[in-house]
Amino acid sequence: MTIKSSIVTSNQSGIHKDLESSVKKHLANPFRKPYRPFSAEIFHKANEIINNLELPIILDSGCGTGESSYLLSKQNPDVLVVGIDKSEKRLDKFISNENFYDKDNLILIRADVIDIWRMIKQSNWNIKKHYLLYPNPWPKKDQLKRRWHGHPVFPEMISLCDQIELRTNWRIYAEEFKQTLDIVTEKNVLLDSIEVTDFISPFEKKYYDSGHELYRVITIN
Ligand SMILES: C[S@@+](CC[C@H](N)C(=O)[O-])C[C@H]1O[C@@H](n2cnc3c(N)ncnc32)[C@H](O)[C@@H]1O
Repeated sequence: MTIKSSIVTSNQSGIHKDLESSVKKHLANPFRKPYRPFSAEIFHKANEIINNLELPIILDSGCGTGESSYLLSKQNPDVLVVGIDKSEKRLDKFISNENFYDKDNLILIRADVIDIWRMIKQSNWNIKKHYLLYPNPWPKKDQLKRRWHGHPVFPEMISLCDQIELRTNWRIYAEEFKQTLDIVTEKNVLLDSIEVTDFISPFEKKYYDSGHELYRVITIN
C-alpha cells in the first residue's frame, strides 16, 4: 500500500510580501559563510575527476536517493551527471561509507549544496542544466529564508548555468521561484503545470500518486 502524502498547507496565501526585498538584499550582500572542511575535501575529489573528463555537466541538487541523477545519466550518455544530497540516509542505495559514488557518467556526492554551489562557481564547471527537483517547501511564512529563492546563496546558485529547472508540488514555491528569477536574471522564465507519465524522481511519483498538482519553472533561452 502506498502512503499518501499530504498536500502542502501554509499560512501564506500568495507570494511572500518580503520576497523582493529579501532577494535584493542578497544581491547586494554576497554570501560569505566559510565552507565546512568536509565539503571542501569532497568537492576537491569531484573537481579532479571533472577537470580530467572535460564533459558538460547536468547538476541534480538535493537529488535524494540519486535515482533522478541515475535516470538523467542514462538519458544523457554524453554528459556527466552530478547528484548532490546532504542526507545521511537517502543516498544509501549508491553510496556506502565514502560519501562519494563515481561510475560511468554519474557522480553522486553526499554534501551540503550551500557550500558546493559556491565552490563550483569558483571552479567554473561547464554546467549545461541544473535540476532542483521537489526541494523541501518550508511552507510557513517565517521559513522564507529556507526556500532556495529566499536563501542568501541564491544569486550565486543561479549564476552557475543558463538553464535551470525546478519542480514542486506547491504552487506558491513555483511562483516565488519564478518571481525571483525574473528579478535576478534577464532570462525568460516559464511556470507551468506538468502532466508526468515517466517519473523523474521518487518524490515526483509520491506526489503524483497522492493526487497533487505538479509545477515546473524553467528558464528559456
Ligand atoms: C523532498 S526531497 C526531494 C528528493 C529528490 N529530489 C526527489 O525528487 O525525489 C529534498 C532533498 O533535498 C535535500 N537537501 C535539502 N537541503 C540540502 C542541502 N543544503 N544540501 C544538499 N541536499 C539538501 C534533502 O536531503 C532531501 O533529500
